[in-house]
Amino acid sequence: MPWELIKLNDGTSIPSVAFGTWTLGGGSQATDFVDQAISVGFSHIDTAQAYRNEEEAGKAIRESGLPRKDLYITTKFSGRDGLDIETSIQNSLKFLGVDYVDLYLIHHPRLATPDIPTAWAKMEKLKQDGLVKSIGVSNFGVPELQILLDSAKIKPVANQILLHPYVHAQQLPIIAFGNAHGIVSEAYSVLIPLTHQPGGPVDKPVGAIAARLSVKPEQVLLAWAKAKGVVVVTSSTKKERLEGYLAAGDIELTPADVVAIDVAGAAGTRQLTVRTFVNRVAVVTLATALAFAVCGYMGVDLI
Ligand SMILES: NC(=O)c1ccc[n+]([C@@H]2O[C@H](COP(=O)([O-])OP(=O)(O)OC[C@H]3O[C@@H](n4cnc5c(N)ncnc54)[C@H](OP(=O)(O)O)[C@@H]3O)[C@@H](O)[C@H]2O)c1
Repeated sequence: MPWELIKLNDGTSIPSVAFGTWTLGGGSQATDFVDQAISVGFSHIDTAQAYRNEEEAGKAIRESGLPRKDLYITTKFSGRDGLDIETSIQNSLKFLGVDYVDLYLIHHPRLATPDIPTAWAKMEKLKQDGLVKSIGVSNFGVPELQILLDSAKIKPVANQILLHPYVHAQQLPIIAFGNAHGIVSEAYSVLIPLTHQPGGPVDKPVGAIAARLSVKPEQVLLAWAKAKGVVVVTSSTKKERLEGYLAAGDIELTPADVVAIDVAGAAGTRQLTVRTFVNRVAVVTLATALAFAVCGYMGVDLI
């Protein structure tokens, strides 16, 4: 099955793979990378106030010449420059050069000020005013989603969260809560096992599946995320990788493949927990030894 559209709870649909602009920097290079992603076939662009390249993304969007309806644009309220939600969306629309964005997210629950219900009511107003087609959140945990739902007149359509095999088990309750309430989860940083945590237990099943299917490890990880029923938000500066990401929509992992990656991810989480514990013990031991040495030197009796 290719990367298909996913139906949202407000009747709109979202392309299930997105090209993100977080790490692209600014200037003409950022425009070129977004342009490249659109040329390769990405129709969903994920940006944010915080990435400081909405203007560059907007330039690529305009230069693509594609009708507005053929692109799906997500941006986020990141509380940039201390501006409120109403001013921020106006700035984002101006930077992106569009009349509306398809999806507007509160980037993090700590930005929902003075509280989640008040901030969400402002988001609802933006939708009612036609500035945004859909509204959602990002990095919300279950308690924050619950607070939001308790006062919401309009439900969030999506919650964009960190999701890769090493955090899968801990993020599962958020995904399950979303599923139970019609909130689609979006996964970012799915490729962490390759980009930031290589050498962990996930490498083995991912490598074996990649060899069996003659595909790249990053394609296996994206196919794993797709199998979880989430929207995948990824990125690359390289054309061949982007083509591979899109082709990953056709990769059919078996249920056993998915479980093998889940199990390896959980094992990696345990390893990291043990490593963190050992590191903390080492730091405390070192600090204690240092304190004794200093006190001994100064002639202070600690016991
Ligand atoms: N809502 C939030 O709080 C939040 C937070 C983080 C991210 N996001 C969104 O998610 C998007 C993607 O985030 P991300 O960049 O962390 O995603 P990612 O999909 O985990 O990583 C993308 C990176 O992986 C690299 N990569 C791909 N295959 C690789 C390989 N085999 N070996 C080594 N590196 C490889 C690419 O580098 P090359 O350029 O060299 O190909 C690219 O920089 C962001 O742009 C943003 O839109 C949202």
